[in-house]
Amino acid sequence: MTVVSDKTSLNIGLLFGGQSGEHDVSITSARAIASALSQNSRYQVQPFYIQRDGTWRSPNISQQVLSCGKSLPDSELLTGAAFFLPAEVQQIDLWFPVLHGPNGEDGTVQGLLQLMHKPYVGNGVLASSVGMDKIAMKAIFANAGLPQVKYVALNRWQWQQEQQEWSEHIEVTLGYPCFVKPSNLGSSVGISKVRDRQQLQEAIASATSYDPRIIIEQGVIAREIECAVLGNEQPQASAIGEITFNSDFYDYETKYTAGMANLIIPSQLPDHVVQAVQAMAVKAFQTVGGSGLARVDFFYVETTGTVLINEINTFPGFTALSMYPKLWEYSGIPFTELCDRLVDLAIKKYHGN
Ligand SMILES: Nc1ncnc2c1ncn2[C@@H]1O[C@H](COP(=O)(O)OP(=O)(O)O)[C@@H](O)[C@H]1O
Ligand SMILES: [Mg+2]
Repeated sequence: MTVVSDKTSLNIGLLFGGQSGEHDVSITSARAIASALSQNSRYQVQPFYIQRDGTWRSPNISQQVLSCGKSLPDSELLTGAAFFLPAEVQQIDLWFPVLHGPNGEDGTVQGLLQLMHKPYVGNGVLASSVGMDKIAMKAIFANAGLPQVKYVALNRWQWQQEQQEWSEHIEVTLGYPCFVKPSNLGSSVGISKVRDRQQLQEAIASATSYDPRIIIEQGVIAREIECAVLGNEQPQASAIGEITFNSDFYDYETKYTAGMANLIIPSQLPDHVVQAVQAMAVKAFQTVGGSGLARVDFFYVETTGTVLINEINTFPGFTALSMYPKLWEYSGIPFTELCDRLVDLAIKKYHGN
């Protein structure tokens, strides 16, 4: 077993890019993290860029991607390569996966890093995979008594067999508007807000094209508030942030078009709501077996004073402007220190403390 904490210099493998729709966000997050880590003289950062097709690139090429902040032009992509790991992987003492979405944030990469027997930043296989699959996540939250919107879970085959029955069931138990979502995705991709049966059927056809497992939720009129969590078994919760926007809901375009959404830190909420949200964020983190970090998102239904948990993100956006690091900055942990703490938490977890 490598005793990384005793080494004077730590070779950190920064994994970024990846196969999900959040490829570009990952590059931006990785740039910010690489720059923060480079301020600590103990760390040597070796970047590993993962192309959109899943191919891992060597630190040399990866550094070019990091420096210019953009994915490689088509002419420089490696194509048709069977899955292989660059030789430099052997030199890494600790991994920092900066990947969002499927094949990055969902436990797959975490499983690979686990098999390499090296510490890695953030959540392990279980928390990552549970956090990525909305049906599994909601079942676990429900079991822990965390309040959430009413929902119906089904798969493509069930839907195709009994469209009429499911439509009636959804209308009776949830009503309109409701939200149709692929179970396993992110960034609002494949999500629709529907107001009648025809839209429901179209939305289900669309969601099942992304994932055979889908979820339909009762629509709520609520403020969207978010809490950052940091730690392993005894995590801390940050101040609460809020997202505001003028669109119908926080869809892909609103998320990724500059100026369409605002981050408000701290969210103006009654003290008891802040405390309830922080307690629920920590409970959600512990319920999925979280480690390192997570951002937990909620709906606050102001008219009734109800807080509902929406989801846990096990590797939230981590650019200098993202909610997660901004919440910690406001709560007294600047970006550079946050990255240091995540590295320390990874080492502690690896050594079982
Ligand atoms: N049940 C709901 N009621 C109201 N708005 C919702 C509901 N579910 C999702 N939304 C809207 O859709 C957005 C994306 O949904 P979310 O489940 O967070 O998906 P993702 O994992 O892709 O972020 C939310 O931020 C919110 O604006
Ligand atoms: Mg979300």
